[in-house]
Amino acid sequence: MAIDAVIPAAGIGRRMGAAVPKQYLQLAGKTVLQRTLEIFLNSPLISRVIVCLKEGDPYFDSLPVSRDPRLIRAPGGAERCDSVLAGLRCSEAEWVMVHDAARPCLTGGDLRLLAEEAISRDGGLLCAPVRDTMKRAGEDMLIQGTVDRNGLYHALTPQMFRRTELLQALEDAASRGLKVTDESSAMELAGCRPLAVAGRADNIKITSQGDLELAEFILEGHRRNGIV
Ligand code: C5P
Repeated sequence: MAIDAVIPAAGIGRRMGAAVPKQYLQLAGKTVLQRTLEIFLNSPLISRVIVCLKEGDPYFDSLPVSRDPRLIRAPGGAERCDSVLAGLRCSEAEWVMVHDAARPCLTGGDLRLLAEEAISRDGGLLCAPVRDTMKRAGEDMLIQGTVDRNGLYHALTPQMFRRTELLQALEDAASRGLKVTDESSAMELAGCRPLAVAGRADNIKITSQGDLELAEFILEGHRRNGIV
């Protein structure tokens, strides 16, 4: 069963406030993007890795991974969903796994778990259960109420679907003017019920400077405990 990875990496990481986009910041001796791409290139489950890059990206060519023959470049778009669409159009595989460039702590174990579970159903995504009590606040930051956290999950990536079904779902969402923030949302709009696959909560998305330090700590923990 052929699975391609699509890695949207065309964001500018505005919230990070760094001089370079967050996927090009250093994390334990390599860039975040190099680490993320290595996870997929090192997996025997993945055929090709499609990386979506911002037009004129001046950084990517200097990554060692940029010369890997299984790596394909796709143009990034204005929103994450536009980048993913461009990446999907470069794939011919039956299945695709879409994964944020900014999540370099994904383990090979979780990648395999998702592949096994998603293929046995009609697609799915890694999720982590919500742990804290959830509140809804108004614009004035005053609490309006408590949200029942039973059945609430953080939607992580990778998210894995049949390529043609995801392409159709994302194109339909785009034609309705909907800016979906993950692949599952597009599939849900198309009437599907993706499977929530419980993954590791340390598959964090790097958004702020503190997340970089946390990611370094997580990777060191994986190394020390032999987690791959
Ligand atoms: O900004 P955020 O962290 O939600 O972005 C998630 C992922 O989507 C990042 O890896 C980012 O590079 C990517 N992205 C993209 N094209 C955009 C915006 C974000 O590929 N236009």
